[in-house]
Amino acid sequence: MTRPLAVVTGASSGIGAAVADRLADDWDLLLVGRDEARLAAVAARTGGHGLAADLACPDGVEAVRAAADGRVRLLVHAAGLGAAGPLEATPATTVDELMAVNLVAPVQLTRALLPTLVAGRGHVVFVASIAAIGVAEEVAYSATKAGLRGFADALRLEAPIGVTTVLPGAVATAYFTRRDQPYHRRFPRPVSADRVAVALLDGVRRRRGEVFVPRWLTLGARVHGAAPALFSRLSRRADPH
Ligand SMILES: NC(=O)c1ccc[n+]([C@@H]2O[C@H](COP(=O)([O-])OP(=O)(O)OC[C@H]3O[C@@H](n4cnc5c(N)ncnc54)[C@H](OP(=O)(O)O)[C@@H]3O)[C@@H](O)[C@H]2O)c1
Repeated sequence: MTRPLAVVTGASSGIGAAVADRLADDWDLLLVGRDEARLAAVAARTGGHGLAADLACPDGVEAVRAAADGRVRLLVHAAGLGAAGPLEATPATTVDELMAVNLVAPVQLTRALLPTLVAGRGHVVFVASIAAIGVAEEVAYSATKAGLRGFADALRLEAPIGVTTVLPGAVATAYFTRRDQPYHRRFPRPVSADRVAVALLDGVRRRRGEVFVPRWLTLGARVHGAAPALFSRLSRRADPH
């Protein structure tokens, strides 16, 4: 019997690679990234199939759709990048790239694969971030993750598939070196990519709507939702700029 197909974007590194490792025993894997050498290494150890595609452009999104259409049962959107610094110092091209990779690509890919996911009673996972509730000096990044969370919330109401949003705090991956600014906050302490992968797959099994990693970050999201003005005051005090 053929195994179900899971598509994991961002599979060449960090959280996506850790998710691929955790799925390898039970799923056929389509592993999406850009770096062919790192993708090949993950494919070799998981038995998955690597697909090099740039999700910043429609052709890359279309290549993933074409490879997954008709088969995908689990779609994990883990590809993404960050940017830190004041908004006015963030180049317009960086804002465009953040929007394209973190928000437009997962929305378009989910849209294109939705008929297959519905037919197979599938599940889609969005790796957002705790930044979805707003982080100073990560303003454009926060907007992409809040957009992703809003998309997931609406899709959960509309489509008969599982929809899980994962909101990690800091995770020890190449993310920080790639964005050219190390992690500087005292808390939350960075967790491992594998811890995020385990929580993500537990969320899929239990069909949870949202998964915070570490779990205590849920509290920040609850305060943000219930008392936004209080949340702003506390955030400014904890992390003044
Ligand atoms: N690390 C954290 O503290 C943290 C916290 C909260 C949320 N997140 C989110 O978690 C997700 C995974 O990040 P990570 O920490 O695992 O970082 P990472 O190790 O830097 O991995 C990022 C992944 O995204 C892929 N990617 C980036 N741009 C791409 C593009 N244009 N086309 C296709 N793939 C692209 C990379 O592929 P290549 O390397 O092959 O280019 C890589 O596989 C991101 O969405 C990030 O926003 C991270």
